[in-house]
Amino acid sequence: MSNLRIAVQKSGRLNEDSMSILKDIGISIDNGKDQLKAAARNFPVEVFYLRNGDIPQYLRDGVVDAAIIGENVLIEKGSDLEFVERLGFSKCKVSIAVPKESKANSLKDLSGKRIATSYPETVKKFLKEQNINAQLHNINGSVEIAPNIGLADGICDIVSSGSTLFKNGLKEIEVLFKSEAVLAVSPQISTERKAILDKIQFRIQSVLKGRD
Ligand code: PRP
Ligand code: MG
Repeated sequence: MSNLRIAVQKSGRLNEDSMSILKDIGISIDNGKDQLKAAARNFPVEVFYLRNGDIPQYLRDGVVDAAIIGENVLIEKGSDLEFVERLGFSKCKVSIAVPKESKANSLKDLSGKRIATSYPETVKKFLKEQNINAQLHNINGSVEIAPNIGLADGICDIVSSGSTLFKNGLKEIEVLFKSEAVLAVSPQISTERKAILDKIQFRIQSVLKGRD
């Protein structure tokens, strides 16, 4: 039988929660952290450790069959992809924020202004929906520093505890959407591997019920 290839975040906030749900459903993985791939000992599953942003393309290409990924990443880079289950962890918001002293109260107030973000496609989509023009600056990390160094009037990024906003003197003015980890599936998955995924999904559902 062939193994189901499932992608998880290599390192970062989602990695730990992803590994713990796999453990909770009884899939044990010898986790040599340096390895990019590891097989489960007791289930036909191989885990691929990948960068968040690369996972949508791997799913599309069928290089992996499934993934534990943030809905926010799917919205940004994989809006064509489907997920089969919400996983209830790694919850966050994707929000617009501005300096505390700014008069802006919503995305609309950033019309004609500069927005720094690592989520350009997401911001573009919301700007378009609300018929607003703004100038986007793409930054890969530490986005919250942008207003302080005069690079932008506002930012769009993930808010979890709110601590990064607070530390950078920013206030959230609009929540674009709420996000959590999801179980995404490749459009190319084979029938045989889909059957393994169904089993995993069933086990996940039981674990999530128990967590409520
Ligand atoms: C993430 C995200 C926010 C922050 C939100 O950044 O980009 O900046 O976490 O979490 P909080 O509300 O709990 O502070 P991360 O620390 O992963 O670093 P990066 O932006 O440089 O990738
Ligand atoms: Mg950050």
